[in-house]
Amino acid sequence: MDEQGLNHVPLTGWYPGHMLKAGRGMRELLRLVDVVVELVDARAPRSSRNPELPEMLPGKPFVLVANKADLATAEGMEAWRRWFRAQGISMQPLDSRHIREAERLVLSWKQVAAGCRRQRGAKRPLNRPVRIMIAGIPNVGKSTLVNHLVAGRRVNVGPLPGVTRHTQWVPLRGGVDLLDTPGVLWPHIREKAHELRLGLIGSIPDDIVGVEFLGEVLWQALRGQAPGRVCWDVFALAAPPATAAEFLDAVARRRGLLRAGGDLDRERAAAAALREYREGRLGRFCLEMPAETDSSGDEANAVDT
Ligand code: G4P
Repeated sequence: MDEQGLNHVPLTGWYPGHMLKAGRGMRELLRLVDVVVELVDARAPRSSRNPELPEMLPGKPFVLVANKADLATAEGMEAWRRWFRAQGISMQPLDSRHIREAERLVLSWKQVAAGCRRQRGAKRPLNRPVRIMIAGIPNVGKSTLVNHLVAGRRVNVGPLPGVTRHTQWVPLRGGVDLLDTPGVLWPHIREKAHELRLGLIGSIPDDIVGVEFLGEVLWQALRGQAPGRVCWDVFALAAPPATAAEFLDAVARRRGLLRAGGDLDRERAAAAALREYREGRLGRFCLEMPAETDSSGDEANAVDT
């Protein structure tokens, strides 16, 4: 994305009341849990990370899970893993729709909690289930992950969590209480580029950012990828279109999206392109990469700047 060109675009300021409430609730619950697992989107691990969470949990055992790793590149994941490691954060790439070893995953989180307990000088293991909080922004894959972890391991009976609107404890076999939390963003997103990445990955509703505008942003993100990485042929395109308008027109033509008078419908084309991007049909790539020389956590570059 052209970060410079986006500076003049105002932030939407979107922050619904239920997130404010849920965010406050999370602060309270953090005191009760033994380890926090924050899910971020592997395509934008920095923009999708809640910057307020580290302030909320000083000293709390913490694991960063880069979910939807199947939609990011392996090089991108490796670069981000090193970047986070330089800050003392362990990052686990994950495709939560295809978890093969759920037990091992949960065990690794229990071990993080146990290791921190030992470091703090605890002599004996906990005499209650380990409490694991699953946190993350909307649409990052929390419900998918929790459903996989819960399948066949839930202690009590009841409906599986779907879209989590409320915080809920889910007791699992093997001495674990999972705390499933609603998706929350933070009240003040500071940079437009971050907000737009959150829009592209579907964590902010399309109509808040503007569907057609988001379609243009998608074109910018796509054309900045290395040659051969984007599957332009999904839209019967041999090469990246020169402008966002050409891109949306090509999508509209390919998908037969016309307005009443017969004009190409760019808004519906943008919605279609976003859907295909989010489903991974346009290829695997990251929307941001860590700056080569930086490991401080202050800088991350858009892939195409
Ligand atoms: P949330 O609770 O954090 O809001 O997210 P949720 O699990 O509902 O997942 C949001 C969307 O992301 C879902 O797609 C889900 O299938 C998809 N998803 C979750 N984890 C992964 C992953 O690791 N890789 C990929 N590629 N996709 C993932 P959806 O289209 O909204 O619904 P559906 O496909 O489940 O019908």
